Amino acid sequence: MDNKGQYECELDQKSPNRNLAPITTEIDQNGRLVVGGCQLSSIAKRYGTPLYVLDEESVRVSCKSYLEALRTHYKGESLPLYASKANSSIAMTKLVASEGFGIDVVSAGELLTALRGGVSGERIFLHGNNKSDQELLIAYEADATVVIDNHHDLERLKELVSKRTKPVRLMLRFTPGIECHTHEYIKTGHLDSKFGFDPDQLDALFKELIDYPWAILTGIHAHIGSQIFELEPHQDLAEVITETFCLAKKYGHPVQDMNIGGGLGVRYVVSDDPPSIQDWIRVISTAVTKACKIRGLQLPRLMCEPGRSLVATAGLTLYTLGAKKSIPGLRTYISVDGGMSDNPRPITYQSLYTCCLADRPLDETDEIVTIAGKHCESGDILLKDIGLPKPLSGDILVVFSTGAYNNSMSSNYNRIPRPAGVIVNAGHAELIQKRERPEDLLMYDVLPERL
Ligand code: LLP
Repeated sequence: MDNKGQYECELDQKSPNRNLAPITTEIDQNGRLVVGGCQLSSIAKRYGTPLYVLDEESVRVSCKSYLEALRTHYKGESLPLYASKANSSIAMTKLVASEGFGIDVVSAGELLTALRGGVSGERIFLHGNNKSDQELLIAYEADATVVIDNHHDLERLKELVSKRTKPVRLMLRFTPGIECHTHEYIKTGHLDSKFGFDPDQLDALFKELIDYPWAILTGIHAHIGSQIFELEPHQDLAEVITETFCLAKKYGHPVQDMNIGGGLGVRYVVSDDPPSIQDWIRVISTAVTKACKIRGLQLPRLMCEPGRSLVATAGLTLYTLGAKKSIPGLRTYISVDGGMSDNPRPITYQSLYTCCLADRPLDETDEIVTIAGKHCESGDILLKDIGLPKPLSGDILVVFSTGAYNNSMSSNYNRIPRPAGVIVNAGHAELIQKRERPEDLLMYDVLPERL
């Protein structure tokens, strides 16, 4: 059996979300896998495993594709934001900001990370369905825009900032009532969602906001879900959000930003076939332009906030193969030195992944194995029944498309330290996240004296 098909599909140079592997992936003359000019097994040796690897070039190409597509297809102003929940670090923030992206954050932690990455407050947007006073105040002081999600946000802001001299910039998130086909847990646009104002509340809300001199409503936001392969839901969203935008204008609010959220899907396995960044932006731009034209509306500043499609396929995780258990006639398990604590997506969403051996990526598959994590949980399985060429203990396993929602959703289950992270580019691998040590995990434990 030829192993090639498992992780190779036609390379899309401009839309990395359509590839399984980072765009700089090569095989060197010894048949070993190289990304960003770095041989993966060598960096595994140098930094240890599990190791998150981020290909700088793939992230930059994705950013450039979003910006170029917006320039080509949208005649008004635009500002793409990076949804930093996908993978938040100072390095990642700095990288996307250097390409011209603003940042979407959902917590004080992500906000501080964006500020430390050098992003100015006016380019930061704070989301969240239950923002704390601390988060609201940090956003306010930093001059970030607060995306109000419910009345609680407004009440807290009223108390915290209404007596201060500087007004707060607000965007308003509403639930657009649009269904899309994705995992139940990552849908957000349907009416039964915890996020955003219900459409029925909007008239009263726009009216209420007129009386708040301390708040300036600068835009409207909606997000319908994540890992979406269809283009129609976003086309429909353009119509619904433009209608809401018009309503805000009717009440006299100086809205100028229209944010259609994130959601573009990526390839995890060969059979995934997401649209390209260019097609996604083209469809949205065309739909927004048309919806505005019909209503005689000047084109708003168009915003979107991709997370996954910017970083998923730029990332991969390296593991070392360890224990093997063969159950005759049933299954062979090979365990790795990580698992659900560094990648909780398989156990949470039954997500599929693709993998190969770092030093024998093209060898013929001769064994079907199941890659198990090392955690005390039977469901801690990273990949089920996949083909590998004579996998041996000590081999380095590469799992592709782990750049989004792996590191950011990682945990310390079983008190397992989080992996290190490196960024690779032009033959250099540099640390962007230090490896936790077991003793670090005791840092916040407190032992009451009486014990
Ligand atoms: N904007 C808002 C308001 C969001 O809630 C999200 C994702 C995004 C943008 C970015 O969406 P993306 O472009 O990444 O699809 N943990 C799940 C994904 C949760 C997505 C949450 N919101 C996973 O691992 O699949």
